[in-house]
Amino acid sequence: MAEAKRIGVLTSGGDCAGLNAAIRAVAYRAIEGYGFRVFGIHHGTHGLMETPVAAEELTLDQFDGNILRLGGTILGSMNRGDPFAYPMPDGSVKDRSEEIIDGYHELGLDALIGIGGDGSLDILRRLALQGGLNLVGIPKTIDNDVDKTENAIGYVTAVDVASEALDRLQPTAASHDRVMVLEVMGRSAGHIALSAGIAGGADAILMPEIPWTTEGLTRKILDVREHGRNFALVIVAEAAHLPDGEAVGRRRADGGFTFGGVGQRVSELIEQSTGAESRITVLGHVQRGGAPSPRDRLFASAFGVCAVDLVAEGQFDRLVVWSDRECRHVPLADGIAKSHRVDPNGTLVHTATGLGIYIGDPAASGAA
Ligand code: F6P
Repeated sequence: MAEAKRIGVLTSGGDCAGLNAAIRAVAYRAIEGYGFRVFGIHHGTHGLMETPVAAEELTLDQFDGNILRLGGTILGSMNRGDPFAYPMPDGSVKDRSEEIIDGYHELGLDALIGIGGDGSLDILRRLALQGGLNLVGIPKTIDNDVDKTENAIGYVTAVDVASEALDRLQPTAASHDRVMVLEVMGRSAGHIALSAGIAGGADAILMPEIPWTTEGLTRKILDVREHGRNFALVIVAEAAHLPDGEAVGRRRADGGFTFGGVGQRVSELIEQSTGAESRITVLGHVQRGGAPSPRDRLFASAFGVCAVDLVAEGQFDRLVVWSDRECRHVPLADGIAKSHRVDPNGTLVHTATGLGIYIGDPAASGAA
């Protein structure tokens, strides 16, 4: 009898809600559907770098309980340490890609399913090309910036959390006659801010894709007041530029940039320009944790099953995507070729302006 195929699964990059549902779907489909053996690799590609490899065989009884509903990832994840330029403790930088490729072979894998965002999927693809690894990608990120998929795992839950935050801010804003500013994540994409802003009744939505002005935002807050409303809600994507073009955050020691703080600056600006009292809430990692929404569980489950089917068919270097109400797949390179950002001419921008929400000047978005 032929030996059962061995497939690895890992979660890489920033975590989000729905990862466990995807791991569960991979395990069910692979073990029940095809009789494969499944190995969960710990902390993304880092698990493959370790000696011995940090991985465990997954069994279906592990998924009997509440894993589907659980936030985070039972496998752990890592969003630092590019294996091609890995920062070593002595301050040097080392190419550790071959160690990961060796780890794949040490585990005797026939295929690897990588659940990641565009950055980690790009690294996994380069490793796969270099080492001849059989890779299938599943898109996850609260930022929803993976091109070619309408939804990445984790995005819907993040929007739900941000919308609920606006729901909770509205009554306290009204009680105290305040302008509440909510800063949300999303890296260079404003999808969370735009969707949650519309769903949560924001008066202004500030995003990295669309330039805005102090005058425009001030005018909106004053208009709201003139129409007899004593409070306003403003949602700001963490990477939204200030009117002078500044992105707010800090440069990390590894050279990367961590966004954060633009909400505070917007809140101060509102107080100065309108005289209104303003408060800031930074939602941060609350958007990534907690139980996945049912829709994220659904995407994760469909992606997991579809990814294992691709492995069974011997179709590699593919990315499973959600498109036109279906789970489909595209070449991995196409799926991550460019970042999907808010379309200034898209339906949701049109919806926001149609509702009278201040979003800046979409026509000037080329300059953003
Ligand atoms: O990419 C997901 C994300 O949550 C971004 O929205 C955010 O900018 C970043 O990760 C935060 O990263 P970290 O967890 O390293 O602070």
